Amino acid sequence: MTNRFVVPYHGQGSVFDEDDVAAVTRLLRSDAHLSGGRERGAFEDEFARHTGARHAVSTTSCTMALELATHLLGLRPGDEVVASPLTFQATVAPLLSRPVGVRFADIDPDTLALRPEAVDRVVGPRTRAIYVTHYGGLPADLDGLVAVARQHDLLLLEDCAHALGSRYRGHSAGTVGDLGCWSFHSLKNMSTMGQGGMVTCRDDRWADTLRRIRAMEPDADFRPRTTPPSFGGRRPPGPEDPERHAKNAYTDDCTAIRHGGLNATMSEPAAAVGRTQLAKLPAMVARRREIAARLHTGLADLPGVVPHRDLPGTVHSYHLYTLRITDAAPGLRDEVVRRLHHEHGVEMILRYFPLHLLPEWRRRGGAYGQAPTAERIWFDELVNLPIYPAMTDRQVDHLVDAVRAAVIRARGGLLRARAVAS
Ligand SMILES: Cc1ncc(COP(=O)(O)O)c(C=O)c1O
Repeated sequence: MTNRFVVPYHGQGSVFDEDDVAAVTRLLRSDAHLSGGRERGAFEDEFARHTGARHAVSTTSCTMALELATHLLGLRPGDEVVASPLTFQATVAPLLSRPVGVRFADIDPDTLALRPEAVDRVVGPRTRAIYVTHYGGLPADLDGLVAVARQHDLLLLEDCAHALGSRYRGHSAGTVGDLGCWSFHSLKNMSTMGQGGMVTCRDDRWADTLRRIRAMEPDADFRPRTTPPSFGGRRPPGPEDPERHAKNAYTDDCTAIRHGGLNATMSEPAAAVGRTQLAKLPAMVARRREIAARLHTGLADLPGVVPHRDLPGTVHSYHLYTLRITDAAPGLRDEVVRRLHHEHGVEMILRYFPLHLLPEWRRRGGAYGQAPTAERIWFDELVNLPIYPAMTDRQVDHLVDAVRAAVIRARGGLLRARAVAS
């Protein structure tokens, strides 16, 4: 089937080669246990080394990584978290199922991530943590956010789903804050065959808890049994001591439970591919940066078109290639996107509708006007172009020509419409 787009969005954000295929084939042809074994441990060690994190604990997705990381924060009913509205729903999904509030603070127009001053403004007495997303792969102002976190005694969680290969003042994204959550979904800068995730952290106890919960063990306190189990004895347990029943899977008595166990184990084939992908990540990010540089150059003289690019001290990994059209003419951005998609063969998907305006967050107090910069950028300025390492130079040049033509024609059309109306 031929794709009708000259530059399709493309379902794979990384490149799979013979080494990835061989890693899977080798495992499937062996008699290895395919769930949670040698490959997983090796992938975690290599990921920790690559990022400089003390611990790396793999999971089945970034959504699961965020769920487990949120548990570690120990939030209590009525506590609050500050998050960016310009991110995927998964960033704050674990908070929807907890009696915890989310305050969406506004973003910086250059980073498209949380602005420290805006975070500072919404911090209240019950605020416990900041959830920052490194939008599109450009690190947020981490120095500023760390300063706000220190001032108010908050934990800093970095959503690094876009930030594989991103660096901030010499550090990998995900290692400046307290926790980093990573995604190896199909579209990301590297993939563990479509789904996968990782949590990075410094704290030894947190890492230990993560490893236990993902393997179906609860995060709980136990006390050694004082009486031997009855091994299926005749007497059913009384309501006062069900834990002493032999069917209780634990050998000790549970005295407190904080989170139930889950199955969030990365499979061995996925972990094996994580290792081959990680080895290629620098080259795949370099290709993304090469494409971005070619786009920057090709569009540099187009007025009112501002690329989302490296800031001093950062390495942008270009999971997304983002432009802002800053004319402030109502409808102009929509017209540019329409022309790119329908007339120039560029498959367009925009990311992300401001979270505080989604029904689930409106119901919890989200309202238009709470994050004016994010709202203006989403509704009037933001354009995401397709980008992936397999994109050819010819496709990149097509993108340049298409954006130039779409912007110039959309502006011309708008001027003509205004002239007719006046
Ligand atoms: C910013 C962000 N956070 C979290 C996620 C969730 O990642 P996963 O698909 O691995 O659960 C995504 C996925 O697209 C994302 O873009």
